[in-house]
Amino acid sequence: MMTSNERLGDFNINKEELPKHIAIIMDGNGRWAKKRNLPRTLGHRSGINALRDIIKTASNIDVNHLSLYAFSTENWKRPQQEVTALMKLLIEYLKKEVKELHKNNVRINTIGDITKFPPEAQEEIHQAKELTKNNMGLTVNIALNYGSRDEITRGVKDICRKVANKELCIEDINESFIAEYLDTYNIPDPDLLIRTGGEYRLSNFLMWQLAYTELWFADTYWPDFNGEDLLKAISDFQNRQRRFGAI
Ligand code: FPP
Repeated sequence: MMTSNERLGDFNINKEELPKHIAIIMDGNGRWAKKRNLPRTLGHRSGINALRDIIKTASNIDVNHLSLYAFSTENWKRPQQEVTALMKLLIEYLKKEVKELHKNNVRINTIGDITKFPPEAQEEIHQAKELTKNNMGLTVNIALNYGSRDEITRGVKDICRKVANKELCIEDINESFIAEYLDTYNIPDPDLLIRTGGEYRLSNFLMWQLAYTELWFADTYWPDFNGEDLLKAISDFQNRQRRFGAI
């Protein structure tokens, strides 16, 4: 097997300029399954294999944060059977794989409002976070019942409560202050957003945080996306010129 350094060489990646935070919209599980005449839930299950490979690759090359859109605030509109299958898959994934992630120094974090999740899922999430909280390697932020508009709405309500209680003056509210009221308060903004599955939209993912992020789209359905594709995205990212609004 190739070492991560050799693989970086293959893709002409500069180790000194890696994106510190990569966000991914893992799209196309349903279509991957449909193409094979399989139930959609099997597409999600195959998505776990891609997830494993991407976490391993990101972890090997010293990316600090990986944010993964696993369940959006809109995904509740899917058939009950698919929602239940996704919850079960999350529980199964955490039960089976957290120990290995922990061994690899990965820290598990979540963004989104998980209080709407079944108690068993909440418990597994809690345990995964507790077990891995002191790990200093890759942080994996799993977005669960996450939507940017919901996140911003929750943050605005928290801020308004403070103003109403006279704990805060309106004049003290600025951009970095607002960022502290988002689920990502301790996470740097993504440098690179990847969306698989051939669609070109943000779907309510990290819309505040993506203001200056480089966007990279792949037609590949998520279950077929692998570590080499991630390295290709990083290599393309390194050829972009980021100006953050300056010239
Ligand atoms: C989008 O594909 C994918 C999802 C809504 C779920 C993503 C979940 C996984 C990759 C696996 C579960 C993750 C964890 C952390 C256990 P889609 O269903 O919208 O695909 P389609 O656009 O082809 O229908």
